[in-house]
Amino acid sequence: MALRLNETYLNGFVSTAETEKIAHVAEASLELVRSRRGAGNGFLGWVNLPADYDKEEYARIKAASARIQKMCGVFVVIGIGGSYLGARAAIEFCRSPYYNNLKKDTPDVYFAGNTISSSALADILRICEDRDVCINVISKSGTTTEPAVTFRIFRELLEKKYGEEGARERIFVTTDRAKGKLKEFSTKKGYETFVVPDDIGGRYSVLTAVGLLPIAVAGIDIDAMMKGAADAREKYLNAPLAENDAARYAVLRNILYNKGKSMEILVSYEPAAQMFAEWWKQLYGESEGKDGKGLYPSSVIFSTDLHSLGQYVQEGLRTMFETVIDFKSSADTVVIPNDPHDIDGLNFLSGKELHDVNRMAMTGTLFAHNDGGVPNILIEVDGRNEENFGALVYFFEMACAVSGYMLGVNPFDQPGVEAYKKNMYALLGKPGYEEQKAALEARMKN
Ligand code: PA5
Repeated sequence: MALRLNETYLNGFVSTAETEKIAHVAEASLELVRSRRGAGNGFLGWVNLPADYDKEEYARIKAASARIQKMCGVFVVIGIGGSYLGARAAIEFCRSPYYNNLKKDTPDVYFAGNTISSSALADILRICEDRDVCINVISKSGTTTEPAVTFRIFRELLEKKYGEEGARERIFVTTDRAKGKLKEFSTKKGYETFVVPDDIGGRYSVLTAVGLLPIAVAGIDIDAMMKGAADAREKYLNAPLAENDAARYAVLRNILYNKGKSMEILVSYEPAAQMFAEWWKQLYGESEGKDGKGLYPSSVIFSTDLHSLGQYVQEGLRTMFETVIDFKSSADTVVIPNDPHDIDGLNFLSGKELHDVNRMAMTGTLFAHNDGGVPNILIEVDGRNEENFGALVYFFEMACAVSGYMLGVNPFDQPGVEAYKKNMYALLGKPGYEEQKAALEARMKN
């Protein structure tokens, strides 16, 4: 089994009576996903995606990624939120956080358009000087400011460098099938386009072209990733609550939330999972944080952060619980050498494998945090690979949908994301926002 929920470190924090009491709510929530009768049911395309995806487009993704690998040394992925986090998470998880620095026969991959920082963009533009570049702009709406502005800048760069015809071959667009400015513009310019399906929201889109094209460009086996997700679908879609770890995880986090544990920390002992945690935070933050409700999703990488946030987790406000992803094996073996003089007093570790030491740090921390009053949910994974990435994605997506319904929110909308945009547009003088601009300027004067 690729994933397994381990509840050992919840002992004393969640009782059988509590899980039994809430079971009917979880069953009903799971049924809302299956029957497609819940709020936001127009956005359930991710449920069957691993088993039922557009095979023609999938083949085009593979063909385009092979062309991109030949054409360029730098591949710039332009997108924000759900339009970039999944791909970045997959590349770091399946390959390495140092992917760009590794010896490899695939292009470096940089992510732009996820900030409005001029310095961040200027750095990537400098990296692109004197190197062959292809870009993939990803925006479901086709109107998001950050990627739209960045795309304009990169389009100019590519057209200057390769001419309009040459640039056309190097620009790949992932957007709505038929509507939006980006789609219109791409059709006019003749760019190759890929689709963000209507019924899949940004944060659930990593296994569509949104994630798959950049992931394939990085040389990652997307067939294995889809297989992992398809296997997880078999396990978590139809299994009853008692045998369904994804729904069970939703139950546990809802019980903890109702007992005042308002913050969930996703923990991993692998730095390669840091961006996966960023993907997870968006998934849960945007899906549940609404109507004055929702767990606050945060993340740490231990043991690194045991030396920064560890103190707070051990002894600070008791309003949190941890969900630990335990990677049982590592693809890399590093053995601690013996020192005949034992100057550093570390010979008790001689011959030990670093991954085993890391997992002992984990077990020690689980007990310490339990003793400090912090419940821990453990998700055991046999290792970091494509299949397990796909399985984790599906596991967390299913759990998020069930959990959101249990909480009584629509897990598929994100109305709050618009508030800053409207103010920004008004302040920047976008036509149609004149009244809001005047109101904001009056507030600034006060
Ligand atoms: O999950 C979501 O829907 C959002 O985070 C979007 O992915 C993000 O806002 C980017 O939107 P778009 O792809 O329309 O540019």
